[in-house]
Amino acid sequence: MELLKRPRRLRSSEAMRRMVRETRMDKSSLVYPIFAIDGKNIKDEIPSMPGQYRYSVDQLPYALEELQEAGVNNVLMFGIPEHKDEVGSQAFAEDGIVQRALREMKKNFPDMIAIADVCMCEYTSHGHCGILCGHDVDNDKTLEYLSQIALSQVRAGADVVAPSDMMDGRVLAIRNKLDENGFKNTPVLSYAVKFASSFYGPFRDAADSAPSFGDRKAYQMDFHNPREAMKEALSDVDEGADMLIVKPAMAYLDLVRSVSQATDIPIATYSVSGEYAMVKAAARNGWIDEEKIIGEMAVGAYRAGAGIYITYYAKELARMMDQGMIG
Ligand code: PBG
Repeated sequence: MELLKRPRRLRSSEAMRRMVRETRMDKSSLVYPIFAIDGKNIKDEIPSMPGQYRYSVDQLPYALEELQEAGVNNVLMFGIPEHKDEVGSQAFAEDGIVQRALREMKKNFPDMIAIADVCMCEYTSHGHCGILCGHDVDNDKTLEYLSQIALSQVRAGADVVAPSDMMDGRVLAIRNKLDENGFKNTPVLSYAVKFASSFYGPFRDAADSAPSFGDRKAYQMDFHNPREAMKEALSDVDEGADMLIVKPAMAYLDLVRSVSQATDIPIATYSVSGEYAMVKAAARNGWIDEEKIIGEMAVGAYRAGAGIYITYYAKELARMMDQGMIG
């Protein structure tokens, strides 16, 4: 056989495969989503996300310590308030759950990066991501609230704010609000390309944030639209976003690729609650190998162009990277 090209030559040993590897990962790029809940002494497992918990503020330091020991330095903080109302007042209250959680985190772990999710659905009685006008979310009115939420989170210590509501113009509104209040150097990580997805189901159980009527299709994107994804990404860049998220991850890696090629800012992708729940469920049934599957999903995300990976499996992935199983 006269074959000039034999790709198998470079696959002949583990050492050879490692040398020629094209995708390399680093645990400094992992972000772990965490849920803070009102109350005391609570570490409450989320039924549809086994292994994930809602923590009261006094319990948070234990969880953060574990992350730090694993080498995961970045956290995406969500708050679940005891009281919800029409305008989500707890989202921007000075002593709101997420503000207290952020203060606690930055007091004990000043070097960890605290990213605050900016949205209203965990805080509103109707579960929509903004201020209602009849059955619709009023875009421009919601912007005033979102920018107030972002400001209160930054005042509480957030290093980065991450708007996930999908209102038009929120990045600019938040940027202006932060700048006016002396926070010119706080970056905005925009959930620029966020689809109306059933993969968020378990999160909504965790945050008790499913909309009480209708759905989120009038603000989150239609998942048939890759060109619209580009429009969202580019307009957020124009509004001053410092980093972008494509979400969910696994079923949307085509967009991770195209958005990372079309922009020049860091791109994150978020492997959401439904992805986690599916892997957990199959693994618990013994149908898949959990570690190998999460390793492949992570490599897939980075290979597509993500520089930052937001995942409930951050701790496990960090360990796998340490052990040289991936990366
Ligand atoms: C808040 C928000 C959601 C998620 C992140 N921020 C829920 C939603 O949009 O319904 C989903 C995260 C996940 O599923 O892991 N708007």
